[in-house]
Amino acid sequence: MIRRDFLKQIGLVTAGLAITDPFAMAKSMAGMSAEELAKLPPEELIHFPLRSLRPDTGGKRITAIIVGAGNRGRLYASYAERYPENFKIVGVAEPIEGRRDAMIKKHGIPMENAFVGFKELLEQPKLADVVVIATPDDLHYEPCMKALELGYDVLLEKPIAQTEKECRDILRQTEKYNRIVAVCHVLRYAPYFIALREYIRSGAIGEVVNIQHMEPIEFAHMAHSYVRGKWRVEKETTPIILAKSCHDLDIMRWLIDKPCKVISAEGSLHLFKKENMPEGAPFRCTDGCPYEAECPFSAMDVYLRRKKHLGVFDLKNRNDDAEILEKLRTTGYGRCVFQCDNDQPDHYVTTMLFEEDKTATFTMDAFTPWGGRRTRVMGTKGYIEGDMSIFTAWDFKTGKTKIWSREVEELEEYKGAGHGGGDLALVRDFLEAVAAQDQSRLSSTLEASVESHVMGFAAEKSRKSMRKVRVKMRD
Ligand SMILES: NC(=O)c1ccc[n+]([C@@H]2O[C@H](COP(=O)([O-])OP(=O)(O)OC[C@H]3O[C@@H](n4cnc5c(N)ncnc54)[C@H](O)[C@@H]3O)[C@@H](O)[C@H]2O)c1
Repeated sequence: MIRRDFLKQIGLVTAGLAITDPFAMAKSMAGMSAEELAKLPPEELIHFPLRSLRPDTGGKRITAIIVGAGNRGRLYASYAERYPENFKIVGVAEPIEGRRDAMIKKHGIPMENAFVGFKELLEQPKLADVVVIATPDDLHYEPCMKALELGYDVLLEKPIAQTEKECRDILRQTEKYNRIVAVCHVLRYAPYFIALREYIRSGAIGEVVNIQHMEPIEFAHMAHSYVRGKWRVEKETTPIILAKSCHDLDIMRWLIDKPCKVISAEGSLHLFKKENMPEGAPFRCTDGCPYEAECPFSAMDVYLRRKKHLGVFDLKNRNDDAEILEKLRTTGYGRCVFQCDNDQPDHYVTTMLFEEDKTATFTMDAFTPWGGRRTRVMGTKGYIEGDMSIFTAWDFKTGKTKIWSREVEELEEYKGAGHGGGDLALVRDFLEAVAAQDQSRLSSTLEASVESHVMGFAAEKSRKSMRKVRVKMRD
């Protein structure tokens, strides 16, 4: 179907190029197949050349130690399987034996470079060029500070640390030892967000005045990670505005390209608490819960029937229902969502004022059928709306639209890579920055990452005090 017929069908073209419903437009555009999109005339497509994921390390092979061989640690290590001539995993620190052994086997790590935890690793002299810190949120600060002192460059999972002071300490430590720290704000490296930013910077929609950005968590993901799972208790990890949404604060700051001055936030835990428990619900979904068939958060549904989020279980066979059931009976993931020890808000709204009177609003919400991100950018000459796979830009004067689409633009090697390809593009840029010993190769320098974390801590202060909070980058 060509674009005009397509638009007619969804009722968007009446006379000329009148656009009546931007939401319907963006949504329907996203439904176009790659072939349909590719048939659009070139002037209606936005194109920015995408870099290959292969790094240019100037012939150097960067050696790395994985600290925390869980979900993220394994993902970053997988880059060494793609580009072994540029990246080699030579050590691991991980307390879970099965995960440690799997990493040793996959990357041929010598036994003397395998450790049960970061403390044991960091008692040794420097063993590699870099460490990848992919431990839980409460175990970022200590290994990062020590690794910098030992002379490692660091790929550091977000959030940087659990408090504003610790984030600033890491920044100072980096300056003191003249090292590179790349924070895994992976959205900055995703082709979609790079194209969105470049299009804004081209001036096509004039000056950005306001951004509306949404992070839909998706109801089952919320239950998995922030009600039953690893990030459910604020103090053990970080407030959800950092644990989940530091990416989004960072992206808004990056798109607006001005420092945030003032922030205010509202939000709370509305649903997932004891007083909302249906009468007589047992502690576990596996214990014959009479509401199981109708509960959208049923653990039986999420893990057993839909086989989602199984990575946390280290299963021998993900199709073995008996093994999954056993996990639901013995781990926190089988608990009724109304009977967990969680305290993270399930809806969170933030308002931001940036320099030059630019504004942004951010909504994080558990109660959505899908995840990803939704963004609207309001400029003085145009408007953009996107959903992380496609964005549509309107020009006020001409009424014409242009589209950037992942389906059309994405290179083969990006396909299937997490966060729209951002996960692996980040590793590429980090290795290049390390090889050149030049942190400006990173779009997300540590200073920029600390700045957007400071926004998160300020938002949390505002939410708890019910006051607007000034954002100060320097203490
Ligand atoms: N950038 C992103 O988009 C993104 C996405 C998800 C998670 N994360 C962050 O990545 C980090 C890791 O998350 P994950 O999902 O991989 O968690 P995970 O639980 O799968 O992995 C963490 C690993 O660290 C290990 N560990 C615990 N104590 C350790 C110690 N003392 N020394 C060494 N290893 C230790 C654990 O055994 C585990 O294997 C978290 O901080 C999380 O917030 C970032």
